[in-house]
Formats: sequence, structure tokens, C-alpha cells
Amino acid sequence: MELIYEKSKAGRRAATLPRHDLPPVEVPAELRRAEPPRLPELAEPELVRHFTELSTRNFGIDTGFYPLGSCTMKHNPRVNERVVMLPGFRDLHPHQDEEGAQGALELMWRLQEILQEVAGLDACSLQPAAGSQGELTGLMLMRAYFEDIGEGSRRDTIVTADTAHGTNPASVTMAGYKLENVATDARGNLDVDDLRTKVNERTAGLMLTNPSTLGLFDEHIEEVAEIFHSAGSLLYYDGANLNAVCGISRPGDMGFDIVHINLHKTFSQPHGGGGPGGGPIVVRRKLEPFLPVPAVVRDGERYRLDHDRPKSIGKVRGFTGPFGVFVRSYAYIRSYGAGLREMSEVAVLNANYLLARLRDAYELPYDRLCMHEFVLSARALKREHGVSALDVAKRLMDYGFHPPTIYFPLVVPEALMIEPTETEPKERLDAFVEAMLAIAAEAAESPELLHEAPTTRPVRRLDEVKAARRAIVKYGFEEHPDLAGEAGESRQLEAQKGA
Ligand SMILES: Cc1ncc(COP(=O)(O)O)c(C=O)c1O
Repeated sequence: MELIYEKSKAGRRAATLPRHDLPPVEVPAELRRAEPPRLPELAEPELVRHFTELSTRNFGIDTGFYPLGSCTMKHNPRVNERVVMLPGFRDLHPHQDEEGAQGALELMWRLQEILQEVAGLDACSLQPAAGSQGELTGLMLMRAYFEDIGEGSRRDTIVTADTAHGTNPASVTMAGYKLENVATDARGNLDVDDLRTKVNERTAGLMLTNPSTLGLFDEHIEEVAEIFHSAGSLLYYDGANLNAVCGISRPGDMGFDIVHINLHKTFSQPHGGGGPGGGPIVVRRKLEPFLPVPAVVRDGERYRLDHDRPKSIGKVRGFTGPFGVFVRSYAYIRSYGAGLREMSEVAVLNANYLLARLRDAYELPYDRLCMHEFVLSARALKREHGVSALDVAKRLMDYGFHPPTIYFPLVVPEALMIEPTETEPKERLDAFVEAMLAIAAEAAESPELLHEAPTTRPVRRLDEVKAARRAIVKYGFEEHPDLAGEAGESRQLEAQKGA
């Protein structure tokens, strides 16, 4: 496919505006550009065709099954989009006075109440814009809390699991804490013996996903909570996997003190590619004074923003957070109503169905019932046929499926982390199983097919090392003469220019 600049013909226009007879505006010389911008010039039909063709090359949850483990790529009900487009929500200005924003404030307050109930905790701030920002906010709350009780300088370490998502250690470091890693035991739980040696008076807290990124619920979670609480430390729940437990078990009841909730996963949202997201944070009462300002509060029948929180860590995002995300999540939750538990039950059922059908063709490193996702290993395929998890993932694209998460968590070699979510029907799950089984058979019979995959997608397998080392993120006009020599691999070239 040609790039839009390659289609451009000088003088073509998608629209013409009527000439005006206003005097020219005086732009100060230092702000004037020396040359006109190099914009593509196309007639409207060609422009529309260009972007329509591009859009058909995208893969999304609306085009196919997207079992990207830990990312919870579920269907986004269209009713959510209708609700968020209601003029009262869509056109609301963030500086609207409280009197004119009562509906929006009420929605946020109600969402906070629901999230508190789901988490089993007492207070909520919707402000963080992603799970990772929720993590950082939670750690800042820990710091503020310990400083307030005079233990700030002593408690300098956060414990994480070796199955932790990369954002956990990154957030710990950004928040200025030291990192302590705990091993995973043979059943996929936190290794409690290892843990005991690592928790002491310097420990500020634990950061844990439960179920873990192995899709396994920690069988010793109450004992783990006790170890931390008896050392005076706090427990942080990374809620990325909350889709497994909504309405069934609550992080607060497990002993966690701070929870972030990835609204864009558990409560649907057209996410991916970096946004939009929401990472509200829910906490135990003793941490409430430190939550970001402004807080959304209710006084009788009126809702307002409370800025008067002297111990607050301050703002972590503009205004009250990503409001459109709140509206969609609220609509999603209300459409389930009291049956929210069913969402998680079906997510867990779907994952176990896939697991049961795939466990003989791929290795299962932790042989337990899974929660909403599970991790297989392509280690045997690699050993016996030289086929890697990457090959399996790329071949799945030829079968019309988005690959699962691969090579994560790090404790599983050649990991394939599969999360179907509750919104997939049995026929779709069966089709995915058939593809995975066919790929396992191909690995034995014709491994080269897998090494070359994908062969039917618009872009073939890319040289990822080269792409990372020499990322080209804008069209360079004549600035990339060196790419011309690679024109033999035209599809590769196309991807690089458009990357
Ligand atoms: C286990 C886990 N924790 C944290 C995060 C970070 O969440 P976000 O992508 O919303 O920043 C993710 C995201 O994929 C995750 O899977």
C-alpha cells in the first residue's frame, strides 16, 4: 500500500473554502514558518479510500478474537458509546461550575461507591489515568502514610513477585523505593518461606497481582497479608486481573490496603495502543486523607469537589481524571447490575475451557485450575521441533487471531499467556482451539511454515531488533535514502516507513 505522501499530487484539494475579504492577519515574523508545511495533497475520495483501506489493516476486538493475556480485551458494548456521547457528558467543560455539573459529579461519586464495594475498601480516587499511574499513586500514598506516622525514612523497600508485570518494579523505582523480589513456589503461589526472609522493619509494603500473571489465585494470601501487617507494612493490590474475581472475592477482604482498578480492562473500554485508560485507586480508611485532590464528595443531595485535604499527595492528573472512561465503565457495570459476579464467573469458565482443550498439545507449567487466564509453554515444541512461542504467536495471525501475550511472565520459558474474557462465545473459543492444535501439528510436520509466519497478513515478520534500534516514526521524505537499498523487501520497507 502506498503512503499518503506517495499518493499526493501537487495542487489537489479535498475541499475548497470560499475566499474571504478580511485583512491578512499579522503573524509576528519570529512565529512565521520559512516554508509552507509539506502536507499530502489529495482529493476527498482518495483521502477517504486511503484511510478506509488503512483501517481494514487494523486488528481489533471488533474484528476478531484477541486473547492478549493480562490485557482483558473484551467486547466494548455500543450502549456505552451512546451514553458517553450524551451531550450532558460529552459537551461538559472541565471548568463547568459544580451547580451545572451535578450529573457528572453524581456519576463519579456513584462509580467510586461501586469500586469501593468491589474492592472491599473504604475510599476511592478516580484520578489516575492508567493502571501504572494507579501504581505510582498507591506507592505515593504509602510514602505519605509512613511519613505521617513517623516511619517514612525507615521504610524504604517494596516487595514484588517474580511474576510481576514490568510496571510494578518501574513504579517502585519511580516512587523512590528499593525493590525486593520474592520467588514463586512449585504451585505458582508466592514462596512464603522466601517471603519471610524478606519482610522486616524496612518493608513499606507488598505489591501483588492476585490472581497472578500466571492466572493463579494465591492459596496463601491470608498468611501473606498477616506477614506484612505484623511487620507494620501495607499491601498493594495490582487490580489488572480483577476480571477474575468481581463479586466473588474482594482484595480488601484478602488483606490488601490499596487497590488500583484498570477500568479499561475489567469494565471495558476501547483500549489498546496506549489509551484511553482509567486506573482509580481504592484504599482503606486510614489512607483516605492522603488521596489525590480534589475528592468527589456528596453532601446530602448535592455533589461537590473537596480540595480541603491537607494531607493529600496532591493532584496526579488534570481535573478529576479521564471522565469519558468513567461514563463507559459506569454504564458497563450498571448493565450487569447485581449480577456483576456472572461477568467473572464466565471469564473464569471460558479460560478453563480453553485450558482443558489445549493442555495436552502445549506444556502446562502449573497444573491447577486457572482463573480468568492461563499460561502455557511452547518449551516442548522448541526442544523437539525448534519452534518458539514467537513462531506460534505469528502463525496464529495467519489463522485470523490476535496472538496471546508471549514471553511473560518471565518465570515460564516460551510462555503463551491466554485470556479469552467472558465476551467470547463457545464457537469462537473452539475455533481458537482448533487453530492452536493445528499449529502444534504443523510444528511437528512443517516447522518452517511457522518460522516464516505470518504469510497472509499485510505485513510479514519484522526485524524487531532493527525496528527498536532504528525506530523511524515519521515520514522522512528524502531523508531515508538508506532504506532504498532494502526495497527488495518492499513490505518490510512499507512497515518501516509507516512505523
Ligand atoms: C498485571 C498488570 N499490572 C499492571 C498493568 C499496567 O496497567 P496499565 O496498562 O493500565 O498502565 C498491566 C497492564 O497490562 C498488567 O497486566
